[in-house]
Amino acid sequence: MCGIIGYIGPKVAYPILLTGLKRMEYRGYDSAGISTISIEDNQRAVNIVKKQGKVSNLENKQTELQGNLGLAHTRWATHGQPSELNSHPHFNDDKSLMLVHNGIIENYLTIKRNLEQRGYVFHTQTDTEVLTKLIDYYHKKCKQKLSTTLQNYEQKKDPLELALRAALHDVVGAYGIVLFHKDTNKLYAAKHGSPLVIGIGKNEHFVASDPAAFLDHTRRVLYLEDEDIAIIKENSYELKSLCSHNGECIKRKEDLVDWDITAVEKNGYEHFMLKEIMEQPQTLANCLAGRLDPQLNDIKFTLKLTLNFIKNIKRISIIACGTSSYAAMAGKFLIEKYLRIPTEVEVASEWRYKNPIISKDDLVIVISQSGETADTLAALKLAKQFGAKTFGIINVVGSTMSREVDSGIYIHAGPEICVASTKAFTAQVLCLNFLLIKLGKIRGDLTETQIQRMISNLLNTPELVKQSLNNIEQIKAAANLIKDKQSIFYLGRGINFATAKEGAIKIKEISYIHAEDFASGEMKHGPIALLEKGFPVVTFVNKNDPLYEKNLSSIQEAKARGAYIIVVADHIDSTLQSYADTILQVPKVPDYLQPLINTIPLQLLAYYTAKLRGCEIDQPKNLAKSVTVE
Ligand code: M6R
Repeated sequence: MCGIIGYIGPKVAYPILLTGLKRMEYRGYDSAGISTISIEDNQRAVNIVKKQGKVSNLENKQTELQGNLGLAHTRWATHGQPSELNSHPHFNDDKSLMLVHNGIIENYLTIKRNLEQRGYVFHTQTDTEVLTKLIDYYHKKCKQKLSTTLQNYEQKKDPLELALRAALHDVVGAYGIVLFHKDTNKLYAAKHGSPLVIGIGKNEHFVASDPAAFLDHTRRVLYLEDEDIAIIKENSYELKSLCSHNGECIKRKEDLVDWDITAVEKNGYEHFMLKEIMEQPQTLANCLAGRLDPQLNDIKFTLKLTLNFIKNIKRISIIACGTSSYAAMAGKFLIEKYLRIPTEVEVASEWRYKNPIISKDDLVIVISQSGETADTLAALKLAKQFGAKTFGIINVVGSTMSREVDSGIYIHAGPEICVASTKAFTAQVLCLNFLLIKLGKIRGDLTETQIQRMISNLLNTPELVKQSLNNIEQIKAAANLIKDKQSIFYLGRGINFATAKEGAIKIKEISYIHAEDFASGEMKHGPIALLEKGFPVVTFVNKNDPLYEKNLSSIQEAKARGAYIIVVADHIDSTLQSYADTILQVPKVPDYLQPLINTIPLQLLAYYTAKLRGCEIDQPKNLAKSVTVE
């Protein structure tokens, strides 16, 4: 979703801010803007350029955007249409205060009415303009109050900090904001629900919604937590809490980002999506590294749960959104099959509002690539309120969810730039396997021999994925056949139902072809009515599947109605050849690895279909990488 970057230091801010915005383009946006000011300039002139459309529209603006302090933003419209006017930064009437904002201010209409009564006029439809003018209102009030107070200590107070505190106490909603005022050589940042991270350089500081925005300059970071206010100068920064009225500084441990900038570059690939699909053998190797211990026949990660709790888990709830929820479905299938623990999977946007049944004996697992998805985060907080133990399967190190969960495991897929998730899904499935083994071992649900076999198969996943990436020419041919179709069905049974869902969302997102997923057995209860000659149906056949025959029958049903059958299969024989029009072969693996392996050709099918249709693959329309608003 929206991206924020701010800079203060000795360098010219504009190129740093522009590159920062480009590094965050993957998040999805519809307009962009930059504002700068010169610390040295006695005139204190504030520069601002905003444009609808791509960040490239902000190129070659160095003469208009001079200065060494500034902030920039890419906007994904929530309140008000995408337009130059609605884009950020927003400002007060004399343009002395500049503000960028990620998130949603829910009570902005009430605040707007109050400010209108005080004479404020609004020019946009955004909640951000309201927040800016609310801070402006308090700023003027605080300046007045401080100028009339006689006490020295009061005079030392920063009126903008006081105004920021007062304004943020009034707002309900989510925000990550960065602002500056022309009279102070400082950047101010505050967070509640939307991520912000400070980049600590040598005599310079950055603040961004994503460290990728400033990783060219520094890897030293400090992740802001909810209710933090940061006051950032060239040579130092102060961290305070919105909850503390005295304004005393907080000390918090800094972190080092453990990936470098090449991870967010295309490295010769035409699209990030293809790069991310192709790097899966490596990302899975990273995910495995040092975690499986064949000697001890165990997985190395800490659950932070007592033996008693693990042995008596009554129920597992796995909460996630989109692709992460399909990984969750695969996890449910495996946990119920191998551990016999009742497991529910629900999308976070439903779960959080259904008055969920949670007890202290439940384990709530959240799965999220970004670790920032608003619905999943809200569900996690709710689960904690109910006293459930929480566990996270998360990619982004230091993300809000990773800090909220009781314990968890990083999937180590590295930055995922393409909006459509690929390498995160396979690493999530791998981590669910880790959890399966860990719980199975502690609870005694899996035998040592079973665990041994599983560990040795898991260690082989990078090689198996490499083999699954081999079908390129055949996949391109299948893409050519489906590229002009109106609709595609993805059918799966058992564990492959989750993979069918993942295949369908992938093609929808990036090629804009309508796709629906069904449990294979449901076809005859309705959807089959839609089948006609040439209608593409994608499905799976695994030779050792106990439901092998049933899968063949489902294919036959569709074929009899003229459907064009694409099968992801772990074998090719004359039976399958007589049923399928295209067979995309993958290696033979046990069920717990099937979602991970069977999804690979479907990722490539979506990619090549979208490419043939000339779609904007990495940033599909209407979508954002990280959905940080409801
Ligand atoms: O960052 P998260 O895993 O929490 O994101 C969840 C979904 O928004 C995400 O998986 C989305 O469905 C992807 N665009 C799918 O490719």
